[in-house]
Amino acid sequence: MSERSASTGKALWHGRFEDGPAAELMEFTESLSFDRRLWSDDIAGSVAHVLGLAHSEIITEIEAASMIAALDRVSEEMTAGAFVFDDSDEDIHTAIERRVTELAGPTGAKLHTGRSRNDQAATGVRRWMKRELILIAQRIVDLQSVLLDRARAAGDVYLPGYTHMQRAQPVLLSHHLLAHGWALGRDVERIVDAMERIDVSPLGAGALAGSSLPLDPDFTANRLGFAARFENSMDAVGSRDHVAEALFALSMVAIDLSRIGEEFVLWTTEEFGFARLDDAYATGSSMLPQKKNPDIAELARGKAGRLIGNLTGFLATMKGLPLSYNRDYQEDKEPLFDSVDQIRRALGAVTGMIATVTWIPERMQAAADAESNAATDLAEWLVQRGTPFREAHAAVGALVRRSLAGEGSLRALVEVDPLLGADAAALVAPGVSVRRRVTSGGAGPDAVAHQIERFSAHLERLRAAVA
Ligand code: ARG
Repeated sequence: MSERSASTGKALWHGRFEDGPAAELMEFTESLSFDRRLWSDDIAGSVAHVLGLAHSEIITEIEAASMIAALDRVSEEMTAGAFVFDDSDEDIHTAIERRVTELAGPTGAKLHTGRSRNDQAATGVRRWMKRELILIAQRIVDLQSVLLDRARAAGDVYLPGYTHMQRAQPVLLSHHLLAHGWALGRDVERIVDAMERIDVSPLGAGALAGSSLPLDPDFTANRLGFAARFENSMDAVGSRDHVAEALFALSMVAIDLSRIGEEFVLWTTEEFGFARLDDAYATGSSMLPQKKNPDIAELARGKAGRLIGNLTGFLATMKGLPLSYNRDYQEDKEPLFDSVDQIRRALGAVTGMIATVTWIPERMQAAADAESNAATDLAEWLVQRGTPFREAHAAVGALVRRSLAGEGSLRALVEVDPLLGADAAALVAPGVSVRRRVTSGGAGPDAVAHQIERFSAHLERLRAAVA
């Protein structure tokens, strides 16, 4: 979009004012610098409003046609980057109305009939949110598909599962990947669920109380493709909980990506050596020639802080605001736009990183085959032969302690143990333990094969929900 023209010196609301606004006021209160990206939503809202005015016979069909022609022209100018902003344009709403009035002459002056920027701006943001959040949800589903593909391809590869970041029990790599997949599925569900509260038209609420004119908020809601209209005009212009909810849903996506990021940072270290990043999804060092850095993973981790800040900052803005509209609400847009932009980019980068990463199964499996990772299997082997679990736990724990003290390998100690013996010692052999996880939803091959089918069906449902 293009530069600003010389100011007319007056704002659209100048009626009761003798003097034009101070430069400092405009500089501090303007929102055009960030809300101009709402232009197409604002125009759509204005077209619906004009049609509503004609539908209610507040304006004539001819007046409506002339305003819609002017709005179409503004749309063309915006698309071509030829729209000229004026210094008096406070926000995208006043800029468009000013231009419509220039283009449609006296008829343009009827555009704002029965409308306030309070319901106008709230309508535009909700319309923007519907579109952008569904795009985010679709990108999450794309990431889930990559996780599913990589889970399918991982076959029997296993690695240590961790609790407290200490090796706990071996798990299939596919199981680990799908754990992230299910969490991301809930993120999609949260966005879809929030949509019900976002998808409500505030248009017709006016400044706060509706109008003396025979407006039809159902008509405009319908025209704009909203599922419902507001129930209470003060609530319509005087609430932003749907924005806070979206900021939370996006923060949760960021947190889930940050956890994947942290694991990739660890897995690509020489110490872990579980994975090697594709060159296209790694960065080098400006000084250290040998470096291959996981910057996507780190920023996926780091950006979560920023998204949480957007959420908590805006919650603080909302706190204690009396009904109904307060200018404070203009602060909804920057955190919302930023969170959406950051998550969109993060999802693209993380999806590419995971799609192209090379696993190093030897390293994963060598770590998982550490003998003590089979300790629980040994205890459960005793349980199946009648030993109460707490006693079995103590008996195996004692063997682990003796092994750590240098008395021999765990396997050797198990072999000669009167309670355990050679059959039990076989459980300590490489690759055995992971095959013993038979619980539905557990980490073993049969359970995971079943889980993969269920995840695939879940993904199809989500894909349909965000289509
Ligand atoms: N740019 C403003 C916003 O985004 C428009 C609303 C201004 N309304 C007002 N009564 N001053 O919230």
